[in-house]
Amino acid sequence: MDIDRLIEGTLALSREIFGSGFIPLHRPVFEGNETRSKDFTGSKYAIATVNGTAALHAAILLAGVKPGDEVISQALTFIATCNAISYSGADPVFVDVDVDTMGMSPEALKRFLEGHAEKKDGKCYNKSSGRRIAACIPMHTFGLPCRIAEIAVICVDWNITLIEDAAESLGSYVGDKHTGTFSSMATLSFNGNKVITTGGGGMIITDDPILAHRAKHTTTTAKIPHPYKFVHDEIGYNYRMPNLNAALGCAQMERLNEFLDIKTELADRWGAFFDQNDVRFVRAVDGNKANHWLNALVLDSKEERDKFIKITNDNGVMTRPIWTSMSKLPMFKDCQSDGLENSLWLEDRVVNIPSSVPDRALKQLDR
Ligand SMILES: Cc1ncc(COP(=O)(O)O)c(C=O)c1O
Repeated sequence: MDIDRLIEGTLALSREIFGSGFIPLHRPVFEGNETRSKDFTGSKYAIATVNGTAALHAAILLAGVKPGDEVISQALTFIATCNAISYSGADPVFVDVDVDTMGMSPEALKRFLEGHAEKKDGKCYNKSSGRRIAACIPMHTFGLPCRIAEIAVICVDWNITLIEDAAESLGSYVGDKHTGTFSSMATLSFNGNKVITTGGGGMIITDDPILAHRAKHTTTTAKIPHPYKFVHDEIGYNYRMPNLNAALGCAQMERLNEFLDIKTELADRWGAFFDQNDVRFVRAVDGNKANHWLNALVLDSKEERDKFIKITNDNGVMTRPIWTSMSKLPMFKDCQSDGLENSLWLEDRVVNIPSSVPDRALKQLDR
């Protein structure tokens, strides 16, 4: 075999098939999805991942959280927030939420830190446990922005890295700033139940070029870029978003604003109905804008909540309670908390009601 002729032929055929310029081994398509997410949120960098939990796990590792550290979060969240903290070998510490935003309360955070934390060598330590408090992860519950700007100031003051779990809040703003852009890194989810979906998928967003580079590296098996050699310089993760999902993400991103408009109309209709019935329909606090991912009510008691959920479900209208407080789950029941008065109060009373983009609205758009 004449190797020179073989190479020449391979090159010629490659050009014939794929055209001029660089021809990759196998072309990924997720750049489009990352670019659109970055542009939409106003963050400088976006790194696509296989799901939101993986994005959170990677962000927590990149924040320098080590086994034995503590991470402050909220007990009123979806399990993925705490699972990701646990994957890093750290333990969550729970502070309370505000009743209006249903997200982490800056006052509760400050009170907790003033009562339990101390600064030493540029780091923050929990005086009760002796462990480092390495990060703080608030979450924008159901797409309602929490008081993230105030939380960011407190975290800077206490040398704690802030990561926003913005899994539920694509399209939600604090003033004119998108949620997820108040912290060193934030994570999004494109799970099937979110405002837009890639089937399964997630994203890390950040303004920091070094973190962005490291996020891409660690979520793609820590492979040193080389035209064809396989060299990996640390234990990395196969957390990349599959190309098929990314292609769907591009298509969905194109429709995000339409979906958000329809969801706002839907929330306005639900809101007017519950206002008339003197029931609190949860809205973003003044100056903020929610994406209305999941609409929520606050009923007067657990009994009313249970009755509402049972009868609506019996009649084919899906409603559901908010999550069981993380502090009650066997894995996290021994984690330190501040008493969680508001979280436990809300847990008994909050109900989610149907929030999908209605088929009828979609058909009108598609016409
Ligand atoms: C608050 C929160 N964090 C993290 C996640 C995890 O995202 P994923 O399901 O894409 O792993 C979700 C949703 O699913 C979520 O609601």
